[in-house]
Amino acid sequence: MDKIIVKGGKKLEGEVQISGSKNAALPILFGTLLTDDEVTVENVPSLADVNTAVSFLNFIGKKTVKKGGIVQGYKSQNYRHIAPYDLVRKMRASVLIMGPLLAKLGKVDVSLPGGCAIGARPIDLHLEGLEKLGAEIEVENGFVKLNSKGRLKGGAIKFRFASVGATENIMLAAVLAEGRTTIDNAAKEPEIKDLAVFLNKMGAKVRGAGTKQIIIDGVEKLGGVKHSVIPDRIEAATYLIAAAITKGKILLKNTEPKHLKSVIEKLKKSGMKIEEGADFILAQWIGALKPQNIITSVYPGYPTDVQAQWCALMSLTKGKSKIKETVFENRFMHIAELLRFGANLRIDGNTVYADGIESLSGAPVMVSDLRAGAALVLAALAAKGKSVISRIYHLDRGYECLEKKLRKLGADIKRVKS
Ligand code: UD1
Repeated sequence: MDKIIVKGGKKLEGEVQISGSKNAALPILFGTLLTDDEVTVENVPSLADVNTAVSFLNFIGKKTVKKGGIVQGYKSQNYRHIAPYDLVRKMRASVLIMGPLLAKLGKVDVSLPGGCAIGARPIDLHLEGLEKLGAEIEVENGFVKLNSKGRLKGGAIKFRFASVGATENIMLAAVLAEGRTTIDNAAKEPEIKDLAVFLNKMGAKVRGAGTKQIIIDGVEKLGGVKHSVIPDRIEAATYLIAAAITKGKILLKNTEPKHLKSVIEKLKKSGMKIEEGADFILAQWIGALKPQNIITSVYPGYPTDVQAQWCALMSLTKGKSKIKETVFENRFMHIAELLRFGANLRIDGNTVYADGIESLSGAPVMVSDLRAGAALVLAALAAKGKSVISRIYHLDRGYECLEKKLRKLGADIKRVKS
């Protein structure tokens, strides 16, 4: 298994190109199943999760090829309705196959999901929503089997929690259903809006994406499409925090500052100088940072996917702060590893209490999930001495060219095979 070795203490300075959003690309790629025609998706990041999605589409029967940042789906027919364990276990977002396949074929059998080890992460909201559209559901031998016995019918769905994945799955199913579907307490994340833009370009009728009520009028058929994925706001936030933690100055290009308001606001309050343009953000360290509390929540609140990185920053920001996680249970696996760098952090329930110190020292650490991995890389970049980070396959699921981008900014970082 590969490892990353970092010699910390270098100020990061320069420009970084932000990649397309993983979390927007995945539902869009699964959405290509909704048409038999050709599709082109641009600005797709080269990541393990994207490769899994492409393999999945080919397995299902939609001939799909990825070259650089472009994914091309070809005219296809005769899809399979089975999502096997070997593909689903690699990536939780594989459950997004349910909506499109149910809409297209009237049935789908999906192995129960795997993915990042952050809490129980059930799929009850996905299933309750699809049931409201007419699916009959059975769970058997580790598979969820859905059958609509004909075309899905529009329905009224109200989520008890604004789940991103469940909102996407229902959108992907309802676009081809008969009649109107309303989703109340829908997720408002930018990735939901991007999915709606993509679906509408295919001929779907989706309104309200980005607000808490989405209305979908089903159509009979969807056509080919060309679409470019939005920039990755979580990758961008990670580089903003890299500038803060290394006392550096980083210009982020191909980014969407308006998707990052909550993170930018916290960084500004802590003392970072931040300039924003139409598609860039310049983050500059101009003096000692002040601790800032955060509470993760659904968009436009502070993203849970940037919680671990904030813990790394607060462990090096002198003074006390609180980091509260409200979206996932058990999303603090990075804390035990941050302690190995010498950080002063304590978990109590869903809150981390940080008492920031002057410096961390390099250490051998292990990645438990994607964003925990980002936090460990950030801590290693700032720590004195050498760190060896193992189980980095988690990072390859979500950060395109991570070492290359960081090296260009001046980091002493390399990947070694072991
Ligand atoms: C997506 C993102 C992930 C991000 C998360 C929250 C993708 C591929 N992943 O994950 O990076 O951290 O949004 O912004 O886009 N829940 C249920 N029942 C369900 C579904 C979810 O109880 O049926 C719970 C989850 O356990 C969790 C919370 O709802 O506690 C949020 O999950 P959700 O918004 O669905 O996240 P994902 O779509 O899995």
